[in-house]
Amino acid sequence: MRLSTVLISSLVAGSVLAAPSNLKRRESRIARRGSPRQHASQHDDTAPENNPTWAGAVINAPQGTFTSVSASFTVPAPQEPAGLTGFHAASAWVGIDGDSCQNAILQTGADFHINGGRMSYNAWYEWWPADSVYLGSALPVSAGDVLYLNVTAFSPTRGVFTITNTNTGATSTKKLASKHALCMQDADWIVEDYGDTAVPFANFGDVVFTGATALTADGGVQGLAEAYLMNIEQNDVVLTSVAVDGDSLTVSYVDGGDGGDE
Ligand SMILES: *[C@@H]1O[C@H](CO)[C@@H](O)[C@H](O)[C@H]1NC(C)=O
Repeated sequence: MRLSTVLISSLVAGSVLAAPSNLKRRESRIARRGSPRQHASQHDDTAPENNPTWAGAVINAPQGTFTSVSASFTVPAPQEPAGLTGFHAASAWVGIDGDSCQNAILQTGADFHINGGRMSYNAWYEWWPADSVYLGSALPVSAGDVLYLNVTAFSPTRGVFTITNTNTGATSTKKLASKHALCMQDADWIVEDYGDTAVPFANFGDVVFTGATALTADGGVQGLAEAYLMNIEQNDVVLTSVAVDGDSLTVSYVDGGDGGDE
């Protein structure tokens, strides 16, 4: 969803005054950005790419390759970036497509918010370009919880998401259908600055995706060894760093932004 300029100005103005009780309403009004990242057709294998809103790892493969993507991560305690107060947010998710495929994204994950030192969370699923669906109290999330995320495509237009809070045992899963066909050609493990400029980016600390796995239609398994990496860069400042160790992907916030090379 693209926010109108009027809506963005009212959100930015509103964020100054936002009381915690307004948070839920604001979230649902904002809707997640969730749109495809700006895709570079050539990847440099030696250094992470910079991107305005996505940090993490993506595998690009031929159409019809990926049937399922999963990982777990420990929910971080977000902070307001140095010198800034007010509503800030970030999101971590796994998904299929949205990179080399710009038709659709099947994704699930959680948003982290910080506002005046108060943390809050909301798990969600989304089949972009439809808006994300927030799980709210159906899947409560707290700092330190380990979330398991899984999206599976049965076909380009049918799939299922599963998100489990392994600390509480709560699971949310639902079969989904969309007229927006997946290409099934990108596997994504991402920390996102969602909401464009309407939602300022939080210092999310570290998000460590573990067990990052992608299943392929021919019965194979791919992982981070096949992925290329990207960092969030805004206004010539790199705001994240990324590192891979086996099937673990660490995405770290770099306060002050000296996280990477151009
Ligand atoms: C996703 O969940 C399904 C159902 O439990 C499972 O069969 C599949 O292996 C999972 N996908 C990945 C990538 O782990």
